[in-house]
Amino acid sequence: MIKILVNDGMHPDGQKLLEEANFQVDTQTVAQEDLYEALPKYDVIIIRSATNVRKDLIDKCPNLKIIARGGVGLDNVDFEYAKSKNIEVFNTPAASSPAVAELVFAHMFAISRFLYQSNREMPSSGNTHFKNLKKAYSKGTQLRGKTLGIIGFGNIGQETARIGLALGMHVMPVDLVINETNLAIDLYNNKDINLTVRVPTVSWDTMLANTDFISLHVPFGGKALIGAKEFEKMKNGVVIINASRGGTVDEEALLHALNSGKVAGAGLDVFENEPNPLKALLEHPRVSLSPHIGASTLEAQRSIGLELAEKIIAYYNGNGKN
Ligand SMILES: NC(=O)c1ccc[n+]([C@@H]2O[C@H](COP(=O)([O-])OP(=O)(O)OC[C@H]3O[C@@H](n4cnc5c(N)ncnc54)[C@H](O)[C@@H]3O)[C@@H](O)[C@H]2O)c1
Repeated sequence: MIKILVNDGMHPDGQKLLEEANFQVDTQTVAQEDLYEALPKYDVIIIRSATNVRKDLIDKCPNLKIIARGGVGLDNVDFEYAKSKNIEVFNTPAASSPAVAELVFAHMFAISRFLYQSNREMPSSGNTHFKNLKKAYSKGTQLRGKTLGIIGFGNIGQETARIGLALGMHVMPVDLVINETNLAIDLYNNKDINLTVRVPTVSWDTMLANTDFISLHVPFGGKALIGAKEFEKMKNGVVIINASRGGTVDEEALLHALNSGKVAGAGLDVFENEPNPLKALLEHPRVSLSPHIGASTLEAQRSIGLELAEKIIAYYNGNGKN
């Protein structure tokens, strides 16, 4: 019987699919240092971001056939080395895109209508306080008609564009390699909507100078893509959303831009220093916060679990390798 170790959790529907296909699925979490002894007994390991599968562990597991990583990145797996040992490495690059894109809009709506501030301040409300807050937060803005800059027009950038277009926003994506994309606006199989919209990418300077909201959807490439120089080129009152990777926005430059009023608000799901982000950002009155939960919806976790299970079953059925 083929044995699978699920080391960072898996949605029960994915586990069920594997068990129904007669795999043995063990879901106890083995500590990283104990994997050298435990993993050689398994054919497959399923992980998310917590477990590392590096060269030294791979060397101890000559029978390992598959490393299945739920989610987007593969930074915790020695991918090339695994491939050189004929180990299949799967991930689920698109399963969590809708979840991340929705969180982007949760932050955008929260900032546009001061929801995070109201939530903090209303509990101590009395009559006058309520009226003061009503006055203070009565200059919200709509998303409809605004222009959304999207940095990185891959899976999540495109999901973000779909939602933006459906809300009546204009979108201006930039990307290293993509020039234009035909986006299907079926909004998740809604049979009443069947539109395809051609969305060209634009130059960085065009995007920076003309957008009201800017959302990042790129991997971290070793240095910030948005720093003091880029903030200078933006419209006054721009809103920045980062649900990609910490480090893609220079946090000191962001703080400066928030304090100068150049940036009206920021929605941050990722931070340079996780799990201890810069305190000045955490406490800033115009920053909407979430603790790196972009992909963490029940639906995304279920899609990830089902996709991994299907890929593992297909591998063993010989129906293609991926
Ligand atoms: N917040 C979360 O919990 C969460 C969850 C999932 C993914 N993410 C992150 O979101 C990011 C995007 O994920 P994705 O699935 O859309 O990736 P993707 O690979 O589908 O798309 C990334 C796009 O960015 C482009 N790109 C890379 N570097 C660029 C640069 N310097 N300038 C312009 N474009 C550039 C690439 O060409 C590509 O089209 C990743 O960093 C991923 O780690 C975050």
